[in-house]
Amino acid sequence: MTGGFAVRAEALEKRYGEKRALDGFDLAVREGTVHGLLGPNGAGKTTAVRILSTLVRLDGGQATVAGLDVARQPREVRARIGLTGQYAAVDEVLTGRQNLEMFGRLFHLGGRRARQRATELLEQFDLTDAADKGVDKYSGGMRRRLDLAASMILAPSVLFLDEPTTGLDPRSRGEVWDSVRELVAGGTTVLLTTQYLEEADKLASRITVIDQGRAIADDTPDGLKNTIGGDRIEVVVTERADIPRVVKVVARVSDGEPESDETELRVHAPVTDRVSALTEVARTLQDEGIPVEDIGLRRPSLDDVFLRLTGHRTENEEKGAAA
Ligand SMILES: Nc1ncnc2c1ncn2[C@@H]1O[C@H](COP(=O)(O)OP(=O)(O)OP(=O)(O)O)[C@@H](O)[C@H]1O
Ligand SMILES: [Mg+2]
Repeated sequence: MTGGFAVRAEALEKRYGEKRALDGFDLAVREGTVHGLLGPNGAGKTTAVRILSTLVRLDGGQATVAGLDVARQPREVRARIGLTGQYAAVDEVLTGRQNLEMFGRLFHLGGRRARQRATELLEQFDLTDAADKGVDKYSGGMRRRLDLAASMILAPSVLFLDEPTTGLDPRSRGEVWDSVRELVAGGTTVLLTTQYLEEADKLASRITVIDQGRAIADDTPDGLKNTIGGDRIEVVVTERADIPRVVKVVARVSDGEPESDETELRVHAPVTDRVSALTEVARTLQDEGIPVEDIGLRRPSLDDVFLRLTGHRTENEEKGAAA
């Protein structure tokens, strides 16, 4: 019995020496949905995926996938899942079609069925035109789609996607998103890890935020965005003395108190009607003759999520700031 959940994990623990990669991690993924697992480098996303897909053993807690216990029924779990790892698994020397046929045979499909399945998947992932080209000629997005296709050979009920779009250009990213949406429309449950708030927001119906091996938030994308605040308008001035006047101008269009940063000469505030707020502020500043270095709109990022939930920035950001 799954109780409507394709994945359930309770108090998962995983240690690597002194390091607690997972430290009481909880997760519940509803059947037939995309669930986002959002977190920075080293948060424990890959470790969670590896435990749930039975590739590594857990040290504590329990987890079920498709109603099956990952520790006690690993073989049964494996028969129901697909996994696309963080790094591409396809063979560069082979064509797309050859790769899929090879995976089919690895899964004991038999030659004829493997060929048939390869053709179906090439079609489904929009790779038919490139089917007989070597994978070394594929773009990043095509490669990722081929990876997705390979993990769908056995039509799994639960698919784990570990950072499927990291390093892709925006267009390829959009193509992978389309493929994921199609999979879910076909009934597959997807657990997708990502470092991009935008990606989780676009694809997932629920998002778990993970930090240092623990879930620190579990919410709908809208709920999460409400917690962290939505879009912000940001003005950078050239003279510190202008900050109070800019605060007044920004306050007229914002939905909350503007905040200012005296060292970065920055004034920012939450806005809902983005474009009219931007136009209004730009016009008023010009009318009042206040010189500005920069003015723009900013969407919340993973760093904003972290700052709001934990009070500190992501480690990547801290390192970046220290450098
Ligand atoms: N095999 C391992 N041996 C030792 N430490 C490990 C191992 N695998 C993961 N870790 C550590 O556990 C923590 C969690 O790593 P994990 O790979 O799960 O993070 P992640 O969220 O997937 O990060 P990324 O976004 O960089 O892929 C990190 O501190 C990592 O260094
Ligand atoms: Mg990872």
